[in-house]
Amino acid sequence: MKTRVLTGITTSGTPHLGNFVGAIRPSVAASRRDDTDAFYFLADYHALIKCDDPARVMRSRLEIAATWLACGLDPQRVTFYRQSDIPEIPELTWMLTCVAAKGLMNRAHAYKAAVDANTASGEDPDAGINLGLYSYPVLMAADILIFNAHQVPVGRDQVQHIEMTRDIGQRFNHIYGKAWRAVSGGKGEPFVLPEVVLEERVATLPGLDGRKMSKSYDNTVPLFEGGAKATREAIAKIVTDSREPGEPKDPDSSSLYAIYRAFASEQDAAAYREALQTGLGWGEAKQKLAALIESELGDAREEYARLMAHPDEMEDILREGAKKARAIATPLVQQLREAVGLGSLVASTKARSGKKAADKRARIVSFRDAEGFRFRLLAADGRELLLSDAFADPKRSGEITRALLASDAAPVTEAVGETRYALLLDGGRIATSPEYADALERDAAIATLMGALESLRS
Ligand code: TRP
Repeated sequence: MKTRVLTGITTSGTPHLGNFVGAIRPSVAASRRDDTDAFYFLADYHALIKCDDPARVMRSRLEIAATWLACGLDPQRVTFYRQSDIPEIPELTWMLTCVAAKGLMNRAHAYKAAVDANTASGEDPDAGINLGLYSYPVLMAADILIFNAHQVPVGRDQVQHIEMTRDIGQRFNHIYGKAWRAVSGGKGEPFVLPEVVLEERVATLPGLDGRKMSKSYDNTVPLFEGGAKATREAIAKIVTDSREPGEPKDPDSSSLYAIYRAFASEQDAAAYREALQTGLGWGEAKQKLAALIESELGDAREEYARLMAHPDEMEDILREGAKKARAIATPLVQQLREAVGLGSLVASTKARSGKKAADKRARIVSFRDAEGFRFRLLAADGRELLLSDAFADPKRSGEITRALLASDAAPVTEAVGETRYALLLDGGRIATSPEYADALERDAAIATLMGALESLRS
């Protein structure tokens, strides 16, 4: 089974070299591995917590989407989407809010830091603190739990949030696990508890003033925005000591060397190091750094500019990503609605009257009719969930059922009008559902189908 790796990027700023080295480059590399199934998203609901400037939020979403794509993220391979395109996320956030302990939120670093700052300046402790900041970790838990991510790569400042996600997920599993198993026919727990992946090895780059490069210190070198010129100008502002050309310099205390090393081959970095030690002037060292960054990032910057001029292309990519993501989120949240008692009134009476049948397992029944070989998928209570297309060859029908039940299969449902759905496997339609009374009943059936498939796989 592939490891599902998920991470979000808050869309409130402009990507800089530090983001590239610390997050974008390693995440793009990780997404190319065959054993990972990467989910990367624009955390634009999170952006609203710290930024109430609509133009800034909009601009940042564009810049961040263009940056990740220009840096080689393949949206075919990765599920790349916007948080705000997945309405199931705020829906799950509410369910989680109702199990999350207030005391846990009181301990969140970001909230505590804001309270401490208020107290220190003699203000009311909660001055200027919105509820979004307070419950930030719950929204983040929903982001992660809704896709059952195994691993969440984040920076050190986010580790506590992942611990809180585990805590909230565990409480939900504990309270609603049994109800969820009953509605989904699944085993196990509704949520996977994610592991945090702290990338200790990835460099944090120093910024213009030698402190960690960060938007909050206003010491960044922009990645693409402003073109090569902006990068050159920022590099020119990197603080150095007052040693003259010809004097030996200490590479290890120089931001220039730290940044150079993050982009150069080992040999080139060693040569740069030696040049500094043997008297390379700071001015020339800056030029060399700017030239290196240009050669490493020039092509990506061109692609970035092209994408920024084609927001429609990015909009399409993100909507496609949201479709893939919702194929998972919609049925899960539908099951969770039922598990917490918010399902259809009709479905619940049916479930009660069919209680005995519910102990049985879902099953697949193969048969032949005038058009060819087919199979039906029946829910544990005997209801038909799917009728396959007709195949000329019984072997083909067998292959498809096996592929559908493979542990790494990723079947996707697609609405057919308001009242039916089709099942797609590897992009091709293989089966369709019966007719339902309305979209609500249909979505409930999709949830049952996903649970039935899950139970057949285990
Ligand atoms: N809070 C994260 C940050 O500021 C961004 C984020 C939002 C995130 N949701 C997430 C990261 C889910 C990982 C998983 O960096």
